[in-house]
Amino acid sequence: MSAVRSLAGISVVVPAAGIGSRLSSQIPKQYLTLQGKTVLEVTLARLLALRPDRLVLVVGASDERYQQISLVDACEVVTGGELRSDSVMSGLVALDIGASEFVMVHDVVRPCVRTADILLLKNEVEDEPAGGLLAVPVIDTLKLMTADSVSTADRRDLWHAQTPQMFRYGVLRDAIDNGDRTTMTDESSAVEMAGYRPKIVPGHRDNIKITEPGDVELAQFFLETGVCE
Ligand code: C5P
Repeated sequence: MSAVRSLAGISVVVPAAGIGSRLSSQIPKQYLTLQGKTVLEVTLARLLALRPDRLVLVVGASDERYQQISLVDACEVVTGGELRSDSVMSGLVALDIGASEFVMVHDVVRPCVRTADILLLKNEVEDEPAGGLLAVPVIDTLKLMTADSVSTADRRDLWHAQTPQMFRYGVLRDAIDNGDRTTMTDESSAVEMAGYRPKIVPGHRDNIKITEPGDVELAQFFLETGVCE
């Protein structure tokens, strides 16, 4: 296992082209304020501090706010698409790196990811044929509700997928190119559909995805208390 505390040798794609409809806020989630900065700045600062080879930021077609953020000067910027998988593909096309090199994809709306977990993922997947992802085991009891029944799912094999997710460039690009993009909610789902078995690397629950009202306050709490350094 490599002990290098950086993302040297790794390229990063940060999809930030979502409109955040579930938060019912006028401001896209990546521009909400956390500790006096935008969510975008907090996430970029965390990743750039690890000095990846390259970082491609994928923004929405009508987004102009990113231009006011100085950290963006350290990134390459491309325009995303309608689906998350379209946006990730825009980032991959811009990278155009060797098929066996690794690319790490991290949602802009997960600003609390722990630096130690980013590095753990890198170290855990570097010998994998496809790659892997951070995830946490399901601890709640899960109910499956249909039109006429409610049942309890077996949670023993279930995990919550998070980002970052890290895959070999050729594997991920081919998987998104050849799969059904409408069913890909993360990179791993595309790679799974292509027949690979991604490695699940246990992360932490404080790596939340800012999605609903209250999530920004929770992220602020995690950052202020330092649990997700
Ligand atoms: O919409 P969802 O919560 O799945 O978004 C996860 C991440 O994907 C966010 O960082 C969002 O900005 C990004 N995204 C994107 N392009 C889209 C949809 C989502 O870059 N079309």
